[in-house]
Amino acid sequence: MLDLYRLDGRVALVTGAGGGIGRDICRALGGVGATVVLADRSDRVAATAEALAAEGLKTDWIAFDAAERTAIEAAAEEIARRHGGTDVLVANAGIVIESPALDYRDEDWRKVMAVNLDGVFHAARAFGRGMIARGTGAIVAISSVAGVRVVRPEHHIAYDISKAGVAHLCRVLAVEWAKTGVRVNAVAPGYTDTEMLADVGRSHPEVLQTWIDDTPMGRLMSRTEIAAGVAFLASPAASGITGHVLMVDGGYSVA
Ligand SMILES: NC(=O)c1ccc[n+]([C@@H]2O[C@H](COP(=O)([O-])OP(=O)(O)OC[C@H]3O[C@@H](n4cnc5c(N)ncnc54)[C@H](O)[C@@H]3O)[C@@H](O)[C@H]2O)c1
Repeated sequence: MLDLYRLDGRVALVTGAGGGIGRDICRALGGVGATVVLADRSDRVAATAEALAAEGLKTDWIAFDAAERTAIEAAAEEIARRHGGTDVLVANAGIVIESPALDYRDEDWRKVMAVNLDGVFHAARAFGRGMIARGTGAIVAISSVAGVRVVRPEHHIAYDISKAGVAHLCRVLAVEWAKTGVRVNAVAPGYTDTEMLADVGRSHPEVLQTWIDDTPMGRLMSRTEIAAGVAFLASPAASGITGHVLMVDGGYSVA
């Protein structure tokens, strides 16, 4: 049974891999045997790839802007040249810009959508094309609890809508590609123990406490818990699962 969870011989590309949850997703996929290509917007991602390689994982890296369609398409071709193709795509890169809806700036709305929603669509298409040609592949996009229910107390409407869009994009592509051998799923993290949340905890401890109090488990999610959900959906253990949004949120979305 454990073999079903392994990804030996597979190539996985993870966007937003330079830090945060993305780095732990890479660690999880590499830990079950995949060669992991770390992607981020600058070549600083090379240092993360080297650090994971020093832990004994098979890594490679590539720098491109996850909001730029032509850069994404070029990256898909480059990975095919280097590794013969991509078996797993994790569309993890994401940004958040906070503001009340009435004051939300048009350019901020566009920036958030460009990375979080357009970028996921372009990546799914660019990497999905090769997967469909080879008759196999798994795409996992990172949504958010904020795309499934309205969170509090902060306001970030563009983020929320982009993440709701990611969840539904996965359902639509899952059905359209269901007979091709390519599965498309999402993981929707709840509030997760990242550097960004640690910053909020230092500057606004009452906000961090609200998130914890509103999570039935009474704690933040760990990055490893999010990564474990991604690794499961990417693996043959999930071969019958497509179009699913896996909540890893400590119960936030059902409370
Ligand atoms: N941290 C949380 O509590 C939480 C909760 C729910 C969902 N998420 C989602 O999880 C994912 C990872 O979040 P995180 O907390 O690790 O964030 P993070 O800011 O720590 O990491 C995001 C990574 O994406 C990269 N990135 C951003 N824009 C990019 C672009 N245009 N091109 C290429 N790379 C780009 C950044 O350089 C960074 O390495 C995001 O999609 C986020 O929305 C996070």
